[in-house]
Amino acid sequence: MGQAAARNPEHQHWMDCEGTWFIGVDALENFPDGSLPDGTPLKGNAVEFIKEHLGALPALHRAQLSITYPGYPKPRAGEGEAAFGYRLRRDAAHVDGVKMFGDSRNRRVEEPHAWVLGIPLNLSSPQAAPLVIWEGSHEVMRRGFSAAYKGIEPEEWHLVDVTEAYKAARAEVFETCKRVTVFAKPGESYLMHRLCLHGVALWAPEAPEQAEGRAIAYFRPDLVGGVPAWLSLP
Ligand SMILES: [Fe+2]
Repeated sequence: MGQAAARNPEHQHWMDCEGTWFIGVDALENFPDGSLPDGTPLKGNAVEFIKEHLGALPALHRAQLSITYPGYPKPRAGEGEAAFGYRLRRDAAHVDGVKMFGDSRNRRVEEPHAWVLGIPLNLSSPQAAPLVIWEGSHEVMRRGFSAAYKGIEPEEWHLVDVTEAYKAARAEVFETCKRVTVFAKPGESYLMHRLCLHGVALWAPEAPEQAEGRAIAYFRPDLVGGVPAWLSLP
């Protein structure tokens, strides 16, 4: 199913990094309850955890279908040397929803997500471009963004330029938090805190070649309550 979506001609604009990353936003044809057209339901411990601790499961968007291929990463289209260096050396680490705006490369929080649920769709090597997280980074990020919003009305927070605060918080995370690669098999999943700094490691040379790549579906529904909720909820 994921492989078919990646081959769909309508989705070819999502192929980037010189053919080593299918970004696949909204590419998986799941239903709002997360189930697939073949009847496979979205269920399991992570979903139960969400329902118990983070509120009812909202109507879900079509999942991002992120597939990396042997050789990842090559530069993204238009990616400069510095940004590609960051991809190579720092796993292109980011917090989801912190987006560039306007003509500058400045950033603000445009897409506050409730949580990020990753579901592996195929079996791959733990060295095949795994997700990377920095343990405890969500609290460093929370402090950093809070400082940037100090003295500003919460209704305005989505408009605040957080570029410098974000850079400083990332630097602190690299210095103080442990980098951990996350691996799961089909049938397992992982739930990531919405403020967690994360990225994708390279496809290690020792990882086996795998023409179908390593495929992960990601759900990250919008958070009701916008940036203030994004920053303050546990
Ligand atoms: Fe991400």
